[in-house]
Amino acid sequence: MKNKSLVSINDYSKEEQLRILELAEEFEQQPTQNILQNHVIASLFFEPSTRTRLSFESAVNRLGGKVVGFSEASNTSVKKGESLRDTILTVANYSDLIVMRNPVEGSARFASEISPVPIINAGDGANQHPTQTLLDLYSIKKTQGTLDNLHIAMVGDLKYGRTIHSLVIAMCNFNTTFHLVSPVELKLPSSVKMHIKENNLSYHQYTEMDEVLPIVDILYMTRIQRERFSDPLEYERIKNAYNLHKNMIEDTKENFRVLHPLPRVNEININVDKSPKAYYFEQALNGVFVRQALMVSILGLR
Ligand code: CP
Repeated sequence: MKNKSLVSINDYSKEEQLRILELAEEFEQQPTQNILQNHVIASLFFEPSTRTRLSFESAVNRLGGKVVGFSEASNTSVKKGESLRDTILTVANYSDLIVMRNPVEGSARFASEISPVPIINAGDGANQHPTQTLLDLYSIKKTQGTLDNLHIAMVGDLKYGRTIHSLVIAMCNFNTTFHLVSPVELKLPSSVKMHIKENNLSYHQYTEMDEVLPIVDILYMTRIQRERFSDPLEYERIKNAYNLHKNMIEDTKENFRVLHPLPRVNEININVDKSPKAYYFEQALNGVFVRQALMVSILGLR
């Protein structure tokens, strides 16, 4: 994986993804080490973030590295009209690895093609969020003891949800049965459903989630994303489509866990948080270990 950018989840083979998960287990045991001493990581966030940016930065800090970058492009020369190309070529002079979130689909791929240092895609528009997928895989494996032969329900914005797109593609390696729950307007794109079919796996589509709760191992909730709608009225109409309450998960399987990439709006009531089946805050913590594993692998340090 040395010097290999991660733009889409399938840039890394199943074996490479599993290697990152194995290494993440080691970092979970010992997250504070000096492996990144003398390394500088650039953190370029053109779009808001809490977990991805801060877990990357926490991961670097705990490994003794340094972070340069920005959390808002309006404070940079982008504001003066500087192109993404020139920004990347400049920042590559100051860093060994660039982590970038950008609202434009395909921007991370473009950056990886022109950058002299590796690029990690921290989310490009509604396209992909591969590091979220790695931490989702880690969380699923940790809670289920396996990634194989699971039933996963994905609920919410399956059309624009980049975490969904990357996770479906990754889970196609593990004989998953997909239960896709969304409003009609926010169904999973055909291109991603095609990927499921090409792997000879099955998916079932629903508009309500009640039916899937007793049969799935993982309930992967997502928010309806206001920022992806061009018509605010359409967002208002479907923004409250799903609202998970504690009583709804009482009769689920013993191994059932609720995951969510976060942030949530109101699709999971806070009364679910105390349930032993709620796993979304632990999931966010796992992001530190997985991102540590990814960065040291790309930098050829492990
Ligand atoms: N899961 C995730 O991408 O969260 P942030 O937008 O807060 O980074």
